[in-house]
Amino acid sequence: MEIKKYCFPPHGDDRGQLVALEAERDIPFPVRRVYYIYDTAEGVTRGLHAHKRLEQILICVHGSCRIRLKDGREEAEVLLDKPWEGLYIANNMWREMYDFSPDAVLLVLASQHYDESDYIRDYAEFLKMVQSEGETE
Ligand code: TYD
Repeated sequence: MEIKKYCFPPHGDDRGQLVALEAERDIPFPVRRVYYIYDTAEGVTRGLHAHKRLEQILICVHGSCRIRLKDGREEAEVLLDKPWEGLYIANNMWREMYDFSPDAVLLVLASQHYDESDYIRDYAEFLKMVQSEGETE
């Protein structure tokens, strides 16, 4: 599976670091929503869903966590532990976020407003959807 990671160049100087992200320039979509996950309890797995249309970029701006991606054929695990690194997640991709360090802050940039009807929360339904899309290609 192809993993698309972005390296956002920090503007570092002797005061410290700064990363700037511009929608449709550094981020490949218009950013319509930003949310972040923190204070995650030990052993918790979040996500466990796919999106029909939504695209996202995940940045662990503090601490670390792991992301498991499944496209219905292959799966991959990605460690996010750098505040200047972003993981792109396309639509039709199952994701699970886990192994959060106690200090982890996971920032998510999303291409659409929150829309419950865009979620696929059932893995069997997800598999059926990606397999039927594969047949029509
Ligand atoms: P949830 O979908 O369970 O998060 P995750 O996929 O990371 O496990 O979301 C937790 C709650 O937050 C749920 O009540 C829906 C709400 N929520 C919003 O209101 N807006 C959002 O953009 C997101 C992602 C969640």
